[in-house]
Amino acid sequence: MLLVGFMGAGKSRVARELARRTGWRVLDFDHEVEAVEGRTIPEIFRDRGEAEFREIEHRVAQRLLAEDRVILSSGGGWPSAGPGRMEGLDPRTLSVWLRISPEAAVARIRGGRGRVRPLLEVPDPVAEARRLLELREGDYAKAKLWIEAESSNPRASAGRIASLIEASWSSGTD
Ligand code: S3P
Repeated sequence: MLLVGFMGAGKSRVARELARRTGWRVLDFDHEVEAVEGRTIPEIFRDRGEAEFREIEHRVAQRLLAEDRVILSSGGGWPSAGPGRMEGLDPRTLSVWLRISPEAAVARIRGGRGRVRPLLEVPDPVAEARRLLELREGDYAKAKLWIEAESSNPRASAGRIASLIEASWSSGTD
């Protein structure tokens, strides 16, 4: 299954909670990119730029998307960073959009435990988040399931997703 959504929507936390409930492994696009590159996301943006980051992210995503019975936590930009990303998913994969407003996303990131998002290191991060979300929303919306991440906590979101996984798993999907 694949989690998509804007930075700060809680993809990593929901992924961890889902892993606990399903016993499936979490594979996080950003962590894998960092492991492949041997440096952090902000360092990759600083040293190589966004375009190269997107290439690395794309390669990593192709590898991770081939895995079965995993919880995939994508980077917020992945669905829109190339053509046909969401359309190209295996039809058996449960894709879930964790929805959040730009204002709440920025507030969560500011209050979070320090993971820097280079794209929001700008004078007006809320305006930038609004702009990015508008560009991306159409792709996030291609996910099979939408969850209001702003009003529900990661546990509740994971609970809903886990019951769907259990239901569809018994009918042969992942
Ligand atoms: C990005 C989201 C980040 C990370 C990078 C770019 C984006 O991941 O991939 O900073 O373009 O939205 P999260 O969504 O996990 O924060």
